[in-house]
Amino acid sequence: MKSIHAFSDVQDARCMRRCLALASRARGLVGNGAMVGAVLVRKGQIIAEAHHAGFGLRHAERSLLESFRGDIHPEDILFTNLEPCCHTGRTPPCTNIIVERGIRKVIYGMRDSDPRVAGKGIALLQSQGLSVTGPVDLAECERLNRGFNAVRTLGRPWITLKMARTLDGRIANGDGSPLKITSTEQDRWSHTWLRSMVDAILIGVQTVMTDDPLLDTRFAQKLNTNTDQYYPLRFILDPSLRIPEYSKILTNSPHQTILVAAEDRAPADRISTLAQRGIRVMLAPLSGQAFDLAALFTLLVTPQSDYHGITSMLVEGGPKTWETFRRAGAVDEDVVLVGDGG
Ligand SMILES: NC(=O)c1ccc[n+]([C@@H]2O[C@H](COP(=O)([O-])OP(=O)(O)OC[C@H]3O[C@@H](n4cnc5c(N)ncnc54)[C@H](OP(=O)(O)O)[C@@H]3O)[C@@H](O)[C@H]2O)c1
Repeated sequence: MKSIHAFSDVQDARCMRRCLALASRARGLVGNGAMVGAVLVRKGQIIAEAHHAGFGLRHAERSLLESFRGDIHPEDILFTNLEPCCHTGRTPPCTNIIVERGIRKVIYGMRDSDPRVAGKGIALLQSQGLSVTGPVDLAECERLNRGFNAVRTLGRPWITLKMARTLDGRIANGDGSPLKITSTEQDRWSHTWLRSMVDAILIGVQTVMTDDPLLDTRFAQKLNTNTDQYYPLRFILDPSLRIPEYSKILTNSPHQTILVAAEDRAPADRISTLAQRGIRVMLAPLSGQAFDLAALFTLLVTPQSDYHGITSMLVEGGPKTWETFRRAGAVDEDVVLVGDGG
């Protein structure tokens, strides 16, 4: 009896890992929503799978159950890394189709932190006689959707600060010239494990002036053969829009760049010139000389027209920009790379 249970635990973990792998294909595509995968399991075999593929599109469970045309058997198990939703958002509740299609057992990875769900999806399914169990592989489920959870519980993205410094503690040259600190191996690591894992990268305009960075993921190693190389959005804090017109960040994939400018400082003609080049300007209010951070967070996480919001952000500097987030206590994770530029 004990060994059967142990086998089931292993199988549950394997199926949940598959949900997470499917879910992670949606990085950068679901806006401020959750990355979710779902699999349908019969006698230990996955017979159907789906994921939430884009902002406003069908959730993973609905997508799976609408595409799977076969009969549902009483012993079939639906796995999903997030509690099924029970509210009407941009799509109908997933709990409806789960009940309608005759699913009898659901295993979930983590509860939904969205107050509209927060356990109500589980309770609704249980009230309809379904067996609902979880959490399974909770740490990995929470890690994948830590941005989604931060937006729902803190009203801001999950924020990682990244700094590079030399062995003797320098982060820049004193004369304002660029200083290469990290090695190619470190760049490969940070492009793979930092930049490719967030919805957006953010820097201050002075770093653009000094370093003219590309801020892309060109050194990232491919982790999942089913996904193309991923490019996060790039935000620049630039209240007066003093960014040089031909910065790499404005000429390479300009549609991936969003300039955050001050409502009453950014020149209107500059905004329209940038817009003609496909570069978005997000206008945020100032509180004194600095952006009102609460208002900025709301702008970052809230979908508006063709902007779908973000849930996680890598703040790459420089010091004034790091300080903005530190002072506000809005840092979830600090990464320091120590290099000699070799
Ligand atoms: N070693 C590393 O990891 C690393 C990483 C990045 C940069 N750096 C170095 O850092 C240096 C630049 O750093 P920095 O501190 O001078 O500049 P920065 O942080 O790159 O940019 C600062 C500017 O961004 C705008 N800004 C930042 N936070 C703001 C806020 N809360 N509200 C409104 N505007 C805000 C302001 O623009 P306005 O002045 O227009 O108001 C501010 O002066 C460069 O030498 C660069 O090479 C090092």
